Amino acid sequence: MSTTETVPAPDQAIGDPTAPVVSFEHVSIGFDGHPVLLDINFQARSGEMVIVLGPAGGGKSVLLKLANGLLPPDAGRIRLFGMNIQTLPQDELFTFRRHIGMVFQESALFDSLSVRDNVSYRLIEERDNQEDIDRRVLECLRFVELEEAIDKFPPELSGGMKRRVAIARAIITQPSLLLYDSPTGGLDPITSTTIIELVMKQRDVYESTALLVTHRLQDAFTLATHRFNLKENRMERIENDGIDPNTTIMVLKQGRIAFTGSLVDLLRSKDPYIQEYLA
Ligand SMILES: Nc1ncnc2c1ncn2[C@@H]1O[C@H](COP(=O)(O)OP(=O)(O)O)[C@@H](O)[C@H]1O
Ligand SMILES: [Mg+2]
Repeated sequence: MSTTETVPAPDQAIGDPTAPVVSFEHVSIGFDGHPVLLDINFQARSGEMVIVLGPAGGGKSVLLKLANGLLPPDAGRIRLFGMNIQTLPQDELFTFRRHIGMVFQESALFDSLSVRDNVSYRLIEERDNQEDIDRRVLECLRFVELEEAIDKFPPELSGGMKRRVAIARAIITQPSLLLYDSPTGGLDPITSTTIIELVMKQRDVYESTALLVTHRLQDAFTLATHRFNLKENRMERIENDGIDPNTTIMVLKQGRIAFTGSLVDLLRSKDPYIQEYLA
């Protein structure tokens, strides 16, 4: 059997289409006897964006690595597209990752590879022919408005440009699930907003599902209260002070979920920790 037959097209459904795209059930993990995440339960439905807020060192990156199958939990179960990732054979997990795009913390680009090769990296590992790869790389760079940087190398790029490349790399397989690890970390406020606008564009153009971790409350506010207007090519406030019904906010506190709900629920929360967090 050739790989072409076994690897599903990225736009094809995978797993159980009626199941949540991501589901954590009683998930715990720790390192060297120190608990990092404790009894984490949440779901992300198709088209939903779950924004995970929490302090540095609070387990946000660990949560995304669990969601991507890069780390196994000590306890509990993680299902993606209705499938238990711990019991998937290694080769299937590889196939499976084509349906997931991850934007790593600090972009994690290969400095010795050009932008073109960074973006196409995951396709070259797999089945695609060169013509398809070239076309897809251009499409993705156009999406993040960085076509002109195609032959540059990461050390020649600004922090914001690196994030754009990281997003282009994550969407190259047209994944239905995006995992964003602190996409605005280390960026100035204006550049942060342009990256969040791009995350929103991805969300609203492709209606993908996403987990996004950030320490910036502002990111959650912007994503929950704006929508991308493709015609105008910019985000705009949702009319009548509305909020996006597909945005859920989750706040971590000492390894546990201290809050989950909409932005409105968050702002109304009487929990002293949340109020302090919002202050
Ligand atoms: N592979 C690992 N081995 C040991 N400790 C780890 C590992 N990955 C993360 N940790 C620890 O887990 C905790 C949470 O880390 P992390 O998820 O990176 O936090 P953040 O919320 O800042 O992303 C930290 O104390 C970190 O040192
Ligand atoms: Mg982190």
